[in-house]
Amino acid sequence: MQITGDGELEIGGCRITRLARDFGTPLHIMDEEMMRSNCRDIRTSLHQHYPKVFVAYASKAFCTLAMCRLIHEESLGLDVCSGGELFTALEAGIPPENILFHGNCKTPREIEMGVRVGIGRFIVDNLDELDLLSEISRKFRRRAHVQIRLNPGVEAHTHHYIQTGLIDSKFGLGITDGQAMKAVERVLGSEYLVLEGVHSHIGSQILTVEPYVLATQVVMSFVGDVKEKYGYSLREVNLGGGFGVRYKAADTGFSLDEYAERVSRVVRESCHIQRLDLPCIMVEPGRYIVGEAGTTLYTVCGIKDIPGVRKYVMVDGGMSENPRVTLYQAEYEAILANRALEESTETVSIAGKHCEEGDMLIVDAKMPQAKPGDTLAILTTGAYHYSMASNYNRYPRPAVIFVRAGLADVVVERESYANLLARDRIPARLVQTDARDIGPHLPAAGNPG
Ligand code: LLP
Repeated sequence: MQITGDGELEIGGCRITRLARDFGTPLHIMDEEMMRSNCRDIRTSLHQHYPKVFVAYASKAFCTLAMCRLIHEESLGLDVCSGGELFTALEAGIPPENILFHGNCKTPREIEMGVRVGIGRFIVDNLDELDLLSEISRKFRRRAHVQIRLNPGVEAHTHHYIQTGLIDSKFGLGITDGQAMKAVERVLGSEYLVLEGVHSHIGSQILTVEPYVLATQVVMSFVGDVKEKYGYSLREVNLGGGFGVRYKAADTGFSLDEYAERVSRVVRESCHIQRLDLPCIMVEPGRYIVGEAGTTLYTVCGIKDIPGVRKYVMVDGGMSENPRVTLYQAEYEAILANRALEESTETVSIAGKHCEEGDMLIVDAKMPQAKPGDTLAILTTGAYHYSMASNYNRYPRPAVIFVRAGLADVVVERESYANLLARDRIPARLVQTDARDIGPHLPAAGNPG
């Protein structure tokens, strides 16, 4: 991302006014080069410190056919957590053996889908799922390769909605209450299940390495216990995702290198002490790969100045394509993208266009004086925006484009009004009368003269 000499934001070599004109707003722009280099950075950092590594992109952060292809081209595996994400990955041509299947409530249909295609790993979240998986794999006479999701009981400093490693969590099997060991026993005793390793994911948007170090210690100690109790060596230790990104210029980012260095040290030391073979370390970053690569463009529709109270800059999108502000009190920064060199002279709040008072995109943004028609860019919108978007107020969801070296390609078409109605049905009993004969009527319009 850079600013041209005449003050316009440029992403992937494309001027934003051109993008806004050609594709309309709101518009999600993904910087392809940045996503690719994030993938490479993760692989390189881990490989520098540890010999056996597997990186899987957590597709829930942003899942489309094109994204799955990009991930495959960058030699990463893919983590899916639903039949829909799995279907997308398979349609994109991702080899099933590179896919890890997550979810705390996988349905029989989803499990069957995974078993039939020969998914790489099932990350088993609870004992009932384990029994179901065992039954389905027996039915199809296909082996299923399993990692057991542990709940390491570690607190990560992030918003409590996106914290998953605490004891009181719907995810994972408890270590202290014996559930996780029970799962190990069941997998080892099952005809078609193959126990490959354990998994832990402690939360999302984590900015320090310390909680990962703690979680890795807990996980490795469990790996040692399994070896001691059953003489079985777990070959894989999956440490999940959660690496944080910078939403604002002043934010400090996540240090991949420190992570790779410290976490791999825990694994090595623990293997040494417990006399274990080195397992493969797996990670599943989502946000780190796509978050900062995404920018959303909006058009300013109007300004409302309430003297002495607040100035609102209203834009043509809002909580339907960015639910993170209302859900997690997430904070963002914006650039007046067509006048990016102008000095910020005022503090305004960027309001969305939805029928909710809480539909704000940024509270107290420093900006040059905006006017209707300006293009506003909100930064770091690549993760959990498109994937969490809704049609609230029946707004069609925005298009998504990939930009690279001056090229811009649509990877998700903008929804149309017709798309919104595509699955609506009117029961026959409601279509029998002519719509004009029924229903309320406005009072007769007054005579303007
Ligand atoms: N692995 C597992 C098992 C996960 O549950 C998640 C995220 C990830 C990997 C990837 O986490 P990441 O690297 O992207 O932080 N909607 C929330 C985030 C929810 C994360 C859910 N699980 C948000 O917008 O902040």
